[in-house]
Amino acid sequence: MTGFRRDAQDNAVLGSVRLGQLVRDADIELPAYVYDVDGMTETLRSLHHAFGDAPHLVAYAVKANSAGTVVRAFAAEGAGVDAVSAAEVELALACGVPASKLVMSGVAKTDAEIDLALFKGILAIQAESVEELSRIATRAQATGHRADVSLRLNPGIEIDAHSHIATGHDTAKFGISESDLSAAYAVIDGSEGRLAQVGFSVHLGSMMNATEAYGRSARKLCDLARERRATVSTLRFVDFGGGFGIDYGGEPSVAPSEFAHTCVRTVRDAGLSDLTIVVEPGRSLVAPFGVLVARIVQTKKSAARQWVMISAGMNDLIRPALYSAKHRIELLESAPQEPEWRVVGPVCESSDDFGSHPLGPAPAGLVAIRDAGAYGYVMASEYNGRALPGEVFVRGGKIASVSHGPGRKAWLERRLSA
Ligand code: LLP
Repeated sequence: MTGFRRDAQDNAVLGSVRLGQLVRDADIELPAYVYDVDGMTETLRSLHHAFGDAPHLVAYAVKANSAGTVVRAFAAEGAGVDAVSAAEVELALACGVPASKLVMSGVAKTDAEIDLALFKGILAIQAESVEELSRIATRAQATGHRADVSLRLNPGIEIDAHSHIATGHDTAKFGISESDLSAAYAVIDGSEGRLAQVGFSVHLGSMMNATEAYGRSARKLCDLARERRATVSTLRFVDFGGGFGIDYGGEPSVAPSEFAHTCVRTVRDAGLSDLTIVVEPGRSLVAPFGVLVARIVQTKKSAARQWVMISAGMNDLIRPALYSAKHRIELLESAPQEPEWRVVGPVCESSDDFGSHPLGPAPAGLVAIRDAGAYGYVMASEYNGRALPGEVFVRGGKIASVSHGPGRKAWLERRLSA
């Protein structure tokens, strides 16, 4: 049984092991992230399964969780990667993801990043503007490569998500708007074979809890692909993006398999079943299978409020401060119960606040901040002189590996030498 649950004695369990036992055995400084890698690979497997026999590629958005253990596990299950920097491309390749399963997105790829993609021969550079397309052509010319590109469409579709994580509306910096596509085609068609359009892609944003908008943008992409095919013979895939939501304890989510079914239906209805379907999920594959474990440092009561101060802060998990996200927080050794306490971290900002959680009459010991497997560690910082957190990886009911953070001393040395 994978993911977070409670056993008969009400102890918090992750990946079938008690979390309290895990952090003791790992002998790791807290706060630390703990991941159930089996839960992640099972989710990936069921997503693969949902595509049936339709040709497809799950290009994991590695920005969500770039731990080598996770990326290697996904590579072993046949996943590709959606990378957004040279470092992510190098990470994916080093973890065993073949270049033929790598796509690279991003609105401001540098020349050096484009060159790396060309040298490695990745599946496609996803061009996000006509200007970028011209730059890719120049780099292809300069390096003597042919650049396989995909055009990322900005479909002008709004989704019901926090404004920071919506990317498919007209005024977003991402993608090429429909009215600019003819200019993009002209660059490709006039490139004397330096550019080959191998795909179309789109990404509406994150945390979609319905498939309607996703289906609508997929249909739009398929219409474009069908039209474009009349003149170019190089198209091999349509990439519908990621953004599959998860249930953080509020609104129930739609299973990733539902998004896969939407993709398969859309491609079939468009008569494009020979094209490979690419999807770019990040969060849905990893978020539910990670927790951030922290220590309760103390409680505090005033006439106005009661707080629980924990040893993890917004530098370790920034989602609540940045997106007003609510992550459930629970004691490791007892189930949630009233009263609620305002849980805050040690960082000197009022936004270092994880919201109110039912931690019972006398909160003490360790807590788990749930659903922290995506956009947790990867967005952590050393603000306030706080060391980056460590990470513990659980597989097959035991600790597979432990990555201790760099520690406070490393921070001190670096700052002294700056
Ligand atoms: N593809 C592209 C081009 C993306 O920009 C992203 C996410 C994904 C795929 C994966 O989206 P996902 O399946 O994970 O929703 N830090 C924010 C999320 C930012 C997402 C950025 N792009 C958060 O913590 O909610």
